[in-house]
Amino acid sequence: MNIGGKPYRTLWELPGADGIEVIDQRVLPHRFATAVLRTAEDVAVAIREMYVRGAPLIGAAAGYGVYFAARSAAADGVATEVDRAAGLLAAARPTAVNLQWAIRFVLDQVHRGRTADDRRRLALAAARQIVADELDRSRRIGEHGLQLIRDVAARKGEVNVLTHCNAGWLACVDYGTATAPVYAAHEAGIPVHVWVDETRPRNQGAALTAFELGEHGVRHTVVADNAGGHLMQRGMVDLAIVGADRVAANGDTANKIGTYLKALAAHDTGVPFYVALPSSTVDWSLADGAGIPIEERSADEVRYIDGLGPRGPERVRLLPESSPAANPAFDVTPARLVTAFVTEHGVFPPTELRRRVQGR
Ligand code: MRU
Repeated sequence: MNIGGKPYRTLWELPGADGIEVIDQRVLPHRFATAVLRTAEDVAVAIREMYVRGAPLIGAAAGYGVYFAARSAAADGVATEVDRAAGLLAAARPTAVNLQWAIRFVLDQVHRGRTADDRRRLALAAARQIVADELDRSRRIGEHGLQLIRDVAARKGEVNVLTHCNAGWLACVDYGTATAPVYAAHEAGIPVHVWVDETRPRNQGAALTAFELGEHGVRHTVVADNAGGHLMQRGMVDLAIVGADRVAANGDTANKIGTYLKALAAHDTGVPFYVALPSSTVDWSLADGAGIPIEERSADEVRYIDGLGPRGPERVRLLPESSPAANPAFDVTPARLVTAFVTEHGVFPPTELRRRVQGR
């Protein structure tokens, strides 16, 4: 998607696969900067500190992290070095299952190799494949989700979509998950407008979704997180589309904190509530959402807010100095509140998840 009229992806290889360059999402929307990552340690820091974030993107970055470990290991130590790096990368963030999924995917390939060179070559090929596959999955999510937006447009003209957090192209390699149908509709000339939840405390909606939609020319309005129920009651939302960080086998969906409240409001007001995800976000090992680990992030993300002041970037404290704060970063929306999943395999209700994705 475009930034300043120029097409970008969130991650690209340096010449000779000597490293990757990523968009540093910590400084958006006020500044555009990139960061170069050349080691598994660099990638782990970038994931933990959220230079890169969003389930598909952290998986794609982690794939390269495993490759970097294979590349820099001594010839007789590739297998042990990739295992060490895998542990480091997997510990960077707990909730998005794409991270573990991607690490396992690259490890499985590496361990098939017989020589050190073989293992390095297989690791790079696997990391590249994750990127290519995520791109393709996002593109197909967009194609399938487009029909949902088209159907509303045919009935009433402009379509109002509500989204939470950033499940846009910045959270993926390109296109996004929740935003992929929006971009597809925009490209198809369908009038679409997005209500963007600001998404406290990290403000991924206000900082990232608003930025990427704006740069790509999609009409949008940022609203406080608490506004969603009101907008739905007043008929100002035609459909809600959110992303996912981990979906259990029964369809229970972990996503950014606050998603559950939006699903409840959508249920009460009869607004269809869609979850857009690639199949790499499904955790088949979990029967339901109760076992999904919920990341508890620093309370400072609640205590302080970052913004742009007259002299540049500023951080200000919001709370009384002595007030404790807590920061659960994700919640689980029960499958019964999800109208349908929008995946690379099509659009279907949660009860169809296994059959449509695994074919059984
Ligand atoms: O903590 P983040 O910003 O990495 O979380 C990402 C989300 O929760 C998004 O809502 C998104 O839907 C999942 S990634 C497409």
